[in-house]
Amino acid sequence: MLPRFLKPTLTVAQQGAKRLSTSAKRDVKVAVMGASGGIGQPLSMLMKQSPLVSELSLYDIVNTPGVAADLSHIDTPAKVKAYTGPDQLRDSVKGAQVVIIPAGVPRKPGMTRDDLFNTNASIVRDLVQAVADCSPKALIAIISNPVNSTVPIASEVLKKAGVYDPNRVFGVTTLDIVRANTFIAEAKGLNPQEVSIPVIGGHSGITIIPLISQCKPAVSFPEDQLKALTGRIQEAGTEVVKAKAGTGSATLSMAYAGARFGCSLIRALNGEQGVIECGYVKSDVTEAKYFSTPLLLGKGGVEKNCGLGKLSNFEKGLLEQAIPELKKNIQKGEDFMNKK
Ligand SMILES: NC(=O)c1ccc[n+]([C@@H]2O[C@H](COP(=O)([O-])OP(=O)(O)OC[C@H]3O[C@@H](n4cnc5c(N)ncnc54)[C@H](O)[C@@H]3O)[C@@H](O)[C@H]2O)c1
Repeated sequence: MLPRFLKPTLTVAQQGAKRLSTSAKRDVKVAVMGASGGIGQPLSMLMKQSPLVSELSLYDIVNTPGVAADLSHIDTPAKVKAYTGPDQLRDSVKGAQVVIIPAGVPRKPGMTRDDLFNTNASIVRDLVQAVADCSPKALIAIISNPVNSTVPIASEVLKKAGVYDPNRVFGVTTLDIVRANTFIAEAKGLNPQEVSIPVIGGHSGITIIPLISQCKPAVSFPEDQLKALTGRIQEAGTEVVKAKAGTGSATLSMAYAGARFGCSLIRALNGEQGVIECGYVKSDVTEAKYFSTPLLLGKGGVEKNCGLGKLSNFEKGLLEQAIPELKKNIQKGEDFMNKK
């Protein structure tokens, strides 16, 4: 039974749910890879709170026994298990239906997400290799940056292993949607929980394309304000990096967004109809091979790509600017995996 005080959090984390079930419909094992980190810990806590999770597997190269012992005292049904280091990696993902990956280094002031490539590319490659070997049907949600490149890397790993299903591999861009909802609600004096804005493209700078023209409820802004709001959504991560002054990037809001995305995957796995989230996936909607759009989720991951919808002229301009950058980021990920 869900403690009453946690219900608001869960309702938020599972935005869009018709009704929040208080008991898991089936056993769902979730693995969090990088579970001891700034994102990993609060994300694991939110997943532990979810009544949809029956087992929570925490993997990291350090500190998972402590995190798991701590979380295991929370009186929700999910059983928490710790796995530490490469020797325990494969066991951590065995039997997982959902694998969420926030492992890797975050940005420091002055860095772009692409600057993280050299460290995070091999981390994501090795973690996804374990999923390919031990849990090839899992839905994989990648948080590690640069998402524009780490999703192509994960896809190449799965292809090489002969188990690639493009409907099961997601880059998590949910934080961009959460930020857009918050900033637009603030500008219009609305309740952010009642604002919904698709954000398409990728997850860095100009590749982040908020579709304010498709906001529900409908909103409009003079051109200068629209440009400023769009720029703020695109650079919101940098706002946090600067404020944290060298100690990291967004962790708490990212954990919230990651939990929302993870819970949506589980709800779809449980057969709930009409679950829609934006996600960065293999796509033929634009010239970029990977692209984020609203996705209808089902038991096998992406059930239907809902596409771009109608773009304003301003948004068409943003899309034009984003595509070359996205293609470059995608190529970089693919080259990393296909180098001799
Ligand atoms: N998608 C997004 O919207 C978004 C938002 C914010 C941050 N991020 C990214 O998420 C990642 C994590 O950020 P953070 O703030 O939690 O960083 P952090 O440094 O606090 O935590 C990262 C964790 O990963 C672990 N780790 C390192 N190598 C590993 C490996 N080989 N296997 C398993 N775990 C490993 C570390 O031990 C650490 O516990 C970064 O790449 C960051 O850029 C993405």
